Amino acid sequence: MRDEGDAGSVVAGGAPTSGQGGAAEGDVPHHRGEQIPAGRAPEELPRAGGHGHGPRPTGAPAPYLARTKSFTRRSRPLHDSLQRTMERHGRDYVLDVPRAEGWTTVAPDYHPDLPTLFGREAPLVVEIGPGVGEQVVAAAGRWPGRNFLAFEVWQPGIAKLVSRAAGAGVSNIRVVEADAAQALPVVLGDASVDEVWTFFPDPWRKARHRKRRLVSPEFACEVARILVDGGVWRLATDWNDYAWQMRDVVESCPALVNPHEGERPDPLDPEPDRGGFAPRWPGRVTTHFETRGQEAGRRAHDVLGVRLPRSVAGVGEAEPAGTQP
Ligand SMILES: C[S@@+](CC[C@H](N)C(=O)[O-])C[C@H]1O[C@@H](n2cnc3c(N)ncnc32)[C@H](O)[C@@H]1O
Repeated sequence: MRDEGDAGSVVAGGAPTSGQGGAAEGDVPHHRGEQIPAGRAPEELPRAGGHGHGPRPTGAPAPYLARTKSFTRRSRPLHDSLQRTMERHGRDYVLDVPRAEGWTTVAPDYHPDLPTLFGREAPLVVEIGPGVGEQVVAAAGRWPGRNFLAFEVWQPGIAKLVSRAAGAGVSNIRVVEADAAQALPVVLGDASVDEVWTFFPDPWRKARHRKRRLVSPEFACEVARILVDGGVWRLATDWNDYAWQMRDVVESCPALVNPHEGERPDPLDPEPDRGGFAPRWPGRVTTHFETRGQEAGRRAHDVLGVRLPRSVAGVGEAEPAGTQP
């Protein structure tokens, strides 16, 4: 049974996992207890309402089916209470998204007018992979003058985020149920976002799975494209080698600068004198993913990227290092 994309090795009830949240030791990210119903790829499962997608005509291109994804999706019906939450509050928070190929994609012509969807113009913060929404809901309450747009693929997580947001009474969050890697380039225009947050992305720890990590040179350049000049990308992880990778990715993107370059060197880093890590951002709450990592003896590293002004020669185009002429 295949998930969408190249996740052919990912099967329902896959390898036992441990550690942090969606992905863990040695294997595929999973969301506890979720299973792909026998014989069905999760992306094929019908859903009520929203924008549908029909079968692809024979020979038609499948632009997204071959992409490497940073997640696997295992669907089963939501628990009754979460289902009721979605019925009561889902439409207040979750955008009705037209799909391309598969339920984690957005249609290539989906360019929503975000101020209309939020009901106002305000600085925009994008969180990628909010999980159950601990960070974004806390932030929405703390900064009522900002709009928060979250991209998440995990349906029970989205339902819990909605429940949390409704309970907190915040109205400045909208959620796109989609793969951020596919959706960001479609949904968000150049220089349209003030901050991007990527906290505790799935670590994909096995060497053969590293290509599935969300934080890559290409993704950094996409983040740089959507950030306003001076906008910031906040990252955190408690897997050391992913922290080194985040630092490397930020420092190799020509449109980003790491304001903490050289700071907080870590003796465990293969380049122990190099540093490049930010202090913990006080606005970042401790989520249960981070707590579980702490209990397992892991320490979070924070990384920061700041978008260089587009007027600075050579950084207008956010091309990954190595792809420029
Ligand atoms: C390990 S959890 C961390 C959740 C949260 N950020 C926290 O710190 O508690 C990673 C989350 O990212 C989501 N995710 C992974 N890849 C994604 C993608 N390409 N687009 C959107 N969400 C993604 C997963 O579904 C999961 O909820």
